[in-house]
Amino acid sequence: MSEPINVVVTGAAGQIAYSLLYQLAAGSVFGPNQPINLRLLDIPVMMTVLDGVIMELEDLALPLLREITPTADPNVAFKNVAAAFLVGSMPRKEGMERKDLLAANAEIFKVQGKALDQHARKDVKVLVVGNPANTNAWICSHHAPSIPKENFTAMTRLDQNRAQAALAARLNVSVDKVKNVIIWGNHSSTQYPDAAHATVNVQGSTKPVPSVVNDDNWLNITFVEKIQKRGTAVISARKMSSAMSAAKAAGDHMRDWWIGTKPGEWVSMGVLSDGSYGIPRDIVFSFPVAIENGQYKIVQGLQINDFARSKLSITSKELEEERTEANNVLQNK
Ligand code: NAD
Ligand code: LMR
Repeated sequence: MSEPINVVVTGAAGQIAYSLLYQLAAGSVFGPNQPINLRLLDIPVMMTVLDGVIMELEDLALPLLREITPTADPNVAFKNVAAAFLVGSMPRKEGMERKDLLAANAEIFKVQGKALDQHARKDVKVLVVGNPANTNAWICSHHAPSIPKENFTAMTRLDQNRAQAALAARLNVSVDKVKNVIIWGNHSSTQYPDAAHATVNVQGSTKPVPSVVNDDNWLNITFVEKIQKRGTAVISARKMSSAMSAAKAAGDHMRDWWIGTKPGEWVSMGVLSDGSYGIPRDIVFSFPVAIENGQYKIVQGLQINDFARSKLSITSKELEEERTEANNVLQNK
């Protein structure tokens, strides 16, 4: 059994955290031999709600869960953390786009970036879930200059899981038979869910998804729009944004970053662009990544046709606009 690591979850009294905390305590993210100390950050008015969450965590009676620290102070929450789930922020309501949350949430990620810079381990792995996730991750990393920029990531794993599930349903196979679907760009309605490089295992043989689906109209329009609009569809039905599936995706993202991906497989993560695939630098853009020894690398050499190129341009342009807007919001505070 390893020494416990410190893991912070922000927005710990909220919806997503309620499902995420169980996964962390049960060992399904950091593995069955990794005990954890949980740091639970929320705002002062939520401290009594957090007390109830802590009672429930205790009542899980799970041996990997060691110390639990509830706090409203980022300086306490981020002390020596090895992993950070930045969930805490306002979710969107019906009729809003995720970028409409920038004004409300940008400051949170500035403050937490500074706290990470001062208190976290320099090898901390940061996953930003709070929306607009890509630009919030960018804000956070810019306020934490002593931590490598590649340690800041944004969650597009929910979009990947949605895309994988939609392809599996269309092909009438179980979801594990579909691999290597890609989410490019922003976790927003401009994202490009790309099945061009995805494979499906049919009766023991691996085939390209496009040739098995054999319907470009469905793949380029129906499928793309379904994934782009899935968050909106959940909000419209539930009157609250997705939480159970978001928590599962956050666990998947961190687990793969911590433990690695299988040879020949990749996952999508929002990471600081290094210019790969002609994407502008200095935006947090979702790319396919392969992970080994806790380090991800953007998968290189995938063919990008004219259709895909036009989609990548739209979503990267939106991220550049969000970066400008974030700078404006933070300067006017
Ligand atoms: P929620 O409202 O249920 O919970 C948010 C929690 O954050 C609340 O307890 C709130 O008090 C807390 N909070 C607010 N400001 C804080 C601060 N400064 N420090 C610490 N905690 C703070 O919302 P939720 O459903 O858990 O969603 C959280 C965020 O995740 C939203 O921004 C939502 O849009 C986003 N989200 C992202 C994805 C994704 O795929 N990237 C998916 C689903 C939801
Ligand atoms: C989602 O994709 O479900 C979340 O980002 C919540 C939202 O605002 O859509």
